[in-house]
Amino acid sequence: METVVSGIRPTGNLHLGNYFGAVKNFLKMQENYNCFFFIADYHSLTTHPHPADLHGNVRQVLSEYLAAGLDPEKATIYIQSDLPEVAELTLLLNMNAYLGELERTTSFKEKARKQPDNVNAGLLTYPVLMAADIIIHQASKVPVGKDQEQNLEMTRKFANRFNRIYEVDYFTIPQPFNFGESLIKIPGLDGSGKMGKSEGNGIFLAEEPESIRKKVMRAVTDSGPSKPNSPVSEPVQNLFTIMEVVSKPEVLEQFKDDYAKCTIRYGDLKKKLAEDIINFTAPIREKIKTIASDDAYLRKVARKGREKAHESASKTIREVREIIGFKPF
Ligand code: TYM
Repeated sequence: METVVSGIRPTGNLHLGNYFGAVKNFLKMQENYNCFFFIADYHSLTTHPHPADLHGNVRQVLSEYLAAGLDPEKATIYIQSDLPEVAELTLLLNMNAYLGELERTTSFKEKARKQPDNVNAGLLTYPVLMAADIIIHQASKVPVGKDQEQNLEMTRKFANRFNRIYEVDYFTIPQPFNFGESLIKIPGLDGSGKMGKSEGNGIFLAEEPESIRKKVMRAVTDSGPSKPNSPVSEPVQNLFTIMEVVSKPEVLEQFKDDYAKCTIRYGDLKKKLAEDIINFTAPIREKIKTIASDDAYLRKVARKGREKAHESASKTIREVREIIGFKPF
């Protein structure tokens, strides 16, 4: 059976981008693949979360994973920092990761621009840690959104390089994956770019309906089509793109048609979009509340995940140490 690995950073509640870019695929994949889904708390340290917040953030994302439908009976669900083998593999891979290529990655350059006072080495080697996450379980498929494409390319590079340097055919080379389609990008509500956690342009799975309505009604649009069949501007296309994932196809068609005929009213579009988002998130939001209050269940899930993930990771570390030439006395 093919192995699948993917993770999400616990730097905020899960938003629609996380759901449609990643979690939706997790749900399908757990039915037919050997899946490892984790919470990337080592990765979240690159932005220096306060110690008082870290555990709560992890707990929230774990509750959200489960509420969205990840099934600990089917998939291995674990916390990245419960698997120190990942840190060891990162150290080993770091020896063959080069400063130039790390500095050139888009995500590093972006982060360095966003947090100029905190350009730490963890940010630089972020793709190496991510590669370790993936290849430690010998994954062949990695369900992610479009924004992770370059990181996946780095993973492939590091895995191939290890195989080449040590003249082995050891690590599986993983592929980015989205069911039957190319990788997707869910846009934000602020007119440009992707939906994100930090940018304040996102809608969260746990968000209350009133707050969703407010955000959607405030979403950036434009002054409206000036003549029939005019091209759709980016902010309006972004709302259509979100509608594509939460609304019925005929609803989207109707609004696109209204746009083409210049009869569209953005107020109506936003109202409908907000209600469809609320219909989609409401059942998940309720489940998040129930699960988040069940300490014993969360503890059980995390423990089971840790044990299963450890089994797979410790085998890889044992074999990698042997390939590299470490020998016990
Ligand atoms: P993160 O935490 O930023 O996002 C988690 C997942 O959600 C997807 N995603 C999106 N997809 C579509 N549209 C969006 N607007 C959007 N925003 C987020 C991301 O593509 C991702 O799949 N580096 C990763 C976490 C990670 C990881 C891994 C992923 C660490 N190790 C190993 C896969 C395998 C990250 O920061 O994702």
